[in-house]
Amino acid sequence: MTNADRARTKSDWSAVRLHVVTGKGGTGKTTVAGALALALAAGGARPGERRILLVEVEGRQGVAQLFDTPPVPYEERRVAVTPDGGEVWALAIDAEQALLEYLDMFYKLGPAARALRRFGAIDFATTIAPGIRDVLLTGKTCEAVRRRAAPDAGRVFDYDAVVMDAPPTGRITRFLGVNSEVSGLARVGPIRNQADAVMRVLTSAQTAVHFVTLLEEMPVQETLDGFAELRDAGLPAGGVIVNQARPVVLPEDRLKKAAEPGGLDRAELALGLGPVGLADPEVVEALAELGTEHARRVLLESGQRDLLAEVGAPLYELPLLAEGVDRVGLDTLAGELHRQGAA
Ligand SMILES: Nc1ncnc2c1ncn2[C@@H]1O[C@H](COP(=O)(O)OP(=O)(O)OP(=O)(O)O)[C@@H](O)[C@H]1O
Ligand SMILES: [Mg+2]
Repeated sequence: MTNADRARTKSDWSAVRLHVVTGKGGTGKTTVAGALALALAAGGARPGERRILLVEVEGRQGVAQLFDTPPVPYEERRVAVTPDGGEVWALAIDAEQALLEYLDMFYKLGPAARALRRFGAIDFATTIAPGIRDVLLTGKTCEAVRRRAAPDAGRVFDYDAVVMDAPPTGRITRFLGVNSEVSGLARVGPIRNQADAVMRVLTSAQTAVHFVTLLEEMPVQETLDGFAELRDAGLPAGGVIVNQARPVVLPEDRLKKAAEPGGLDRAELALGLGPVGLADPEVVEALAELGTEHARRVLLESGQRDLLAEVGAPLYELPLLAEGVDRVGLDTLAGELHRQGAA
């Protein structure tokens, strides 16, 4: 049994309506969030039955790039359809637009809000109090999670689940917890109610915060720290998704031997290569060096996997796609997530 199997406690995210995908910068948060959205969108009983919203909060249009679509405006747009008709919609949440919407919703200030924008009050508000930005981003996300579309709501509809391409590990707990600070500041009134409603979603079993990592020291350490912080803050931890995992081609005892100071056994290798006419000493030496490096890296990775297993969260592993991540690759990753029970 591999470490991954040992750590893979049975996971059931079927009750989860908000999947938050975090991780160290560059480890594959956007990619994994997209693959998870596709995996969740598939498998409906009827064509088109399932609809997933993928939200982006960092204003970088990473989702549009991922699905190779034009930039997503502050409006929900369909970006992908699964073979069985499930749909992935995307929304790039913009703090300023969310603030206007918020003012409009709570204070019926339509024209006044537009005037506020003219006078730069919104810039002022979102710059002077960076927390406000996060309140708006989480607030809008939770609105989509809680939404129950009225039959006559036109294009506004509800989703089976929302996947958030979230800020990186170092900021995630603060980002998700910001509403509890607001709730502490505003004793009563609509702001207090809104902050409380957001925290109710974010601290409930409706939410799961997943960590994407590579099998390298830094991202693994960030994942361990991130989990601890999240749990301390009372936020619901989800799974660990190891991204860009490389296949292991040798059994463990062979790997250990090959990783020893002398490296892979040249004589043995030459014996194996002889029958196919590749026993030339230079070829043997080059292959031995490659094999030794592979063995050492795999063992290092295995050590990192052991550390991750200690988190006690379900562990998933996605392969490194040699051709990069296009739509076919995304479907492969989504299929893996489904096969391993994440969606
Ligand atoms: N499984 C994979 N196989 C091959 N390439 C991958 C895989 N996952 C991600 N990548 C590539 O790695 C790069 C980083 O991925 P991605 O943009 O998803 O990371 P991120 O964590 O969202 O980054 P950022 O912190 O900048 O938002 C991209 O070029 C992406 O195509
Ligand atoms: Mg990203």
